[in-house]
Amino acid sequence: MNIKTPKTSSLSEEFSLVDDILYLNHAAVAPWPNRVVDAIEKFSRENAAQGSKYYPRWVETETHLRQQIQQLINAGSPNDIALLKNTSEALSVVAFGLDWKAGDNVVSVAGEFPSNRVVWEALAPKGVELRKTDIQCNDPEQALFDQVDAKTRLIAISSVQYATGFQLDLVRIGDFCQKNNILFCVDAIQSIGALQFDVQAIQADFVMADGHKWMLGPEGLALFYCRPERREQLTLQQYGWHMTDAFIEFDREDWKPAKTARRFECGSPNMLGIHALNASLSLLLETGMHAVEEHVLANTRYLFECINESTQLELLTDTTPGRISGIAVFRHRNMDNDTLFSLLTENGVMCAQRGGGIRYSPHYYTPRETIKRAVEMADIAV
Ligand SMILES: Cc1ncc(COP(=O)(O)O)c(C=O)c1O
Repeated sequence: MNIKTPKTSSLSEEFSLVDDILYLNHAAVAPWPNRVVDAIEKFSRENAAQGSKYYPRWVETETHLRQQIQQLINAGSPNDIALLKNTSEALSVVAFGLDWKAGDNVVSVAGEFPSNRVVWEALAPKGVELRKTDIQCNDPEQALFDQVDAKTRLIAISSVQYATGFQLDLVRIGDFCQKNNILFCVDAIQSIGALQFDVQAIQADFVMADGHKWMLGPEGLALFYCRPERREQLTLQQYGWHMTDAFIEFDREDWKPAKTARRFECGSPNMLGIHALNASLSLLLETGMHAVEEHVLANTRYLFECINESTQLELLTDTTPGRISGIAVFRHRNMDNDTLFSLLTENGVMCAQRGGGIRYSPHYYTPRETIKRAVEMADIAV
């Protein structure tokens, strides 16, 4: 494998992780790049000194963030993007906005993160069934399609499974949905910021992702893409000044929901989060998502190699090209996961216990040395 680590000098300017932390937990919560810290600090100092004197400039940052998100996911317009609290909120906007009929069903994947299960299960009182598909088979997409019948209104999946790192073929699923008049909803929190993502190419109706994983931002600010033709199909569940069409004309008594995706944002924006996410996305876009993806996947393949070289460790993640992401899950052949996890975290390896093993998730900037050392720490002879 011979992919050069991207511009090392600039990476050391951008990231300040201390040496005794081996950070392999981007699939959970990412550390902030220095430019995010700077943006937050600058915003805080401005607030302390001048309050909201420069609010119009904050709104410019908000506008810029929407443009960056548009570029990151190839949306047709910044107007297709709402800024919400988190992935779960965006999923709820979809689940509780659609006009369900008793007997309808949603087809999903078994073992989805709870955000993308609970929200559909919560529709049970309306008579909506959630069908969870086992995708541990030769043709996972076909397994999903086999669950579909005339009452299927929506396919809801994560682009990358959080517990295995398995990547579904979104183009194929989007195509199937289009042909069968089924809505397509993608929880993309384990892809966006790590892998190239194109909402138009996959023909998605709804896409959501909080910024605190691969997008390197803080928790509590998520993107929600809604295909323009679907916007008015979602009955609004939350109301306030910010979602109205003429939202700065406070004296006006008449109002309509905004025509744009701002209709899903009921009140004051999370300006602190906006400044932070705007900074982290600028880093990803300057690096270029093509390069970011290339390095994320090269790091994952290197991680696979290191794990496979160990006689003590067993890789659980599917390594099929096209199916891999930023995640690798493994277990120790002779040690239980709880013990191994405690040992690793005590020794500074930031990772997670997921999918029946230990999940490592390096990002594009993670040095090879960090990956190697973290695998060596797990490779304990028992
Ligand atoms: C697939 C997936 N969806 C959603 C979330 C988090 O959802 P939220 O942004 O609502 O906290 C996670 C976090 O681990 C996840 O892995």
